[in-house]
Amino acid sequence: MEEIVELISEETLKKRIGEAAKAISEDYQGKDIVMICVLKGAKPFFESLCEEIKGVSITKDYIKVSSYTKTESNREPVIGTNISTDISKKDVIVVEDIIDTGHSLDTLVNNYLAGKGPNSIEVAVMLDKPSRRENHNITPKYTCFTIPNLFVVGKGLDFDEEYRELPFVGVVKSSLERPIDEDIEGIIAQLGTPIRRVIKPLELTKQGKSGIIAKQIKGE
Ligand code: IMP
Ligand code: MG
Repeated sequence: MEEIVELISEETLKKRIGEAAKAISEDYQGKDIVMICVLKGAKPFFESLCEEIKGVSITKDYIKVSSYTKTESNREPVIGTNISTDISKKDVIVVEDIIDTGHSLDTLVNNYLAGKGPNSIEVAVMLDKPSRRENHNITPKYTCFTIPNLFVVGKGLDFDEEYRELPFVGVVKSSLERPIDEDIEGIIAQLGTPIRRVIKPLELTKQGKSGIIAKQIKGE
């Protein structure tokens, strides 16, 4: 069983997702919008985000985009399912777990959804790893956390289909070159840098320092 080191606690995720939801609520107040969840990874973030959006009428839809084999990004993402909602002339927000190289969101938004004639399309991501970007065609309007180049799991994110159900975002310890404790201060210091719309500076607790064993979380 792998050891997972917590980077962003459940509580911090909730707080920040609430802030992103507030920004969306202000920007789309009184409107009907279509929120599109990129499966499978974005589902927990999508549900938490939608739950906190107030004063906006939301139609939810889901789309599957395959882009990763284990920890390697695929430069030619595949759209696996269609959406069932007609988004013509609609305001659309695409909700994704993480933007990494940027290829998946570029393919989905620019090659696929834009062709369906929406009034607007914006992107909301839980995490951004800007140091990995290869494709600069997408800039998410709503970003909860900016993280360094680490392979993260939890809150929907998987490593070969494992760890999606963890309620926090963490790193598989064995994937780190050096012990996380040496790096954690630097990593925490870099977290939460807003891209465009995120509102208050992030207060990160040091809860992450302790490290948590995944099997304890799963109750095994
Ligand atoms: P991109 O096309 O490289 O931007 O990849 C985006 C997709 O890769 C995300 O939707 C995730 O499914 C996956 N991904 C990227 N980085 C990570 C990570 O650190 N952990 C888990 N999945 C990741
Ligand atoms: Mg994904």
